[in-house]
Amino acid sequence: MATDVQSRYEMSLKIYQDYPMPIRSKKDDESGAYRRPGDNETIINALCFGGQQIFGKNANRRVLIAGGGTGDSTVFFAKVFKEYEMTGDIVHLDQSESANVICRNRLKELDLDNVTFSKSSIFELNTKKDGYFDFVNCNGVLHHLADPDEGLHRLSSVTRDGGALGIWIYAKYGRAGLYHIQATMADLLGQRPIDSAAVELAKELLNELPSSSLGKFDSAGNVRTVSKRDVHGEQYVDRFLHTLDQPYSAREMFEFVERASLIFSGFQVTEEALLYEPLHFVKSPLIRKELERMSFKDRSEVAERIHCSLNMHRIFAVKGARQDILSRDTVMMWRAKAKPREFGPDGAAAIVLGPYKIPIRFSGATVQLMEALDGQTSNGEIIDRLGLDSQKLIADEDLVRSLMPINFLTIRAPMRCLELT
Ligand SMILES: C[S@@+](CC[C@H](N)C(=O)[O-])C[C@H]1O[C@@H](n2cnc3c(N)ncnc32)[C@H](O)[C@@H]1O
Repeated sequence: MATDVQSRYEMSLKIYQDYPMPIRSKKDDESGAYRRPGDNETIINALCFGGQQIFGKNANRRVLIAGGGTGDSTVFFAKVFKEYEMTGDIVHLDQSESANVICRNRLKELDLDNVTFSKSSIFELNTKKDGYFDFVNCNGVLHHLADPDEGLHRLSSVTRDGGALGIWIYAKYGRAGLYHIQATMADLLGQRPIDSAAVELAKELLNELPSSSLGKFDSAGNVRTVSKRDVHGEQYVDRFLHTLDQPYSAREMFEFVERASLIFSGFQVTEEALLYEPLHFVKSPLIRKELERMSFKDRSEVAERIHCSLNMHRIFAVKGARQDILSRDTVMMWRAKAKPREFGPDGAAAIVLGPYKIPIRFSGATVQLMEALDGQTSNGEIIDRLGLDSQKLIADEDLVRSLMPINFLTIRAPMRCLELT
């Protein structure tokens, strides 16, 4: 098995040499197509650094984009560094030279010259050679490695204490139909290479699938296809012809992060975050009773199996202690049009996600805190003034975190950047 994984991994490296992806034009980049949900300096500052300005005016920071590919995240960080006049390093690491060349050209077109390239492997990262990074971005790479645990361990080892990582790994059940197609393609292709003939075969197979096929529809119920951005078959290769692609269920994802001695610090997308908590949407009192005695990690597994609609786990993790957003020192601001209480079970503003209308069940104390936020007064001052129960607030920390990406709530950035030693 191990040799099989190794040989499939080596074939996948060739895939990224022959079919680097995604391909973006200058027009795409100018219109912001490079921007990913978790590539957001405000959200990273909030969810990974307790609101401190890790990314901010004149800060000196080191960022690693591991398996950076054709460079969406690299373009993002290069723009952030330029905009905030930041110093330090942005290192784009990828073992695929063709992906690195595309990324270099994109940066040149955008007049960005603040990135260092490393054509090497995540498995070769070490602090003697590479030093420590404040933030490590690794989107869509770890699930393709021969040894994902070793990969994440390497990334963690070059993250400084107190630093953080943004990670995307494939989710299991939302992609089940896709794995059905991958397996069928592997049978059809046998030992033949992944090339334009294989891409044609994949297209034919998709056309051939009847409605009864497990692979016909994606997790949103749409007929499975690739986006119009496909240039020379790279999306067919990435989805249907990949040779090594190991998805994680929600519980497996949390355990993967824990094994690397990292602490989960939040989801990158609010709409996804809410789908990890079955108590947000399961109605049956009998099932809810069972769920209530389970840990969040175990509940998230049940949630994912029920809706099967996550394709990716997009998360942040920190090395060292997680900094609470609901701490006394934080200064926050409620930005959503509807008031916090209107998101509750009896309110009008529940969030609609696919088949679910999800209320946000803040405790009464949290609703009072949220409604008193003014962007000037610290949580501690509000808690004292209103006599709020701090324990009830602490219990809502994860829920508050999950709302940060949707921008209902922001942390007021301190005036000066955090000085790091
Ligand atoms: C699916 S692409 C993702 C690229 C990019 N992170 C993105 O989100 O667009 C995976 C990338 O990981 C790279 N890769 C795979 N194994 C690697 C390794 N051991 N070290 C460095 N890069 C690796 C591939 O060459 C490829 O460019």
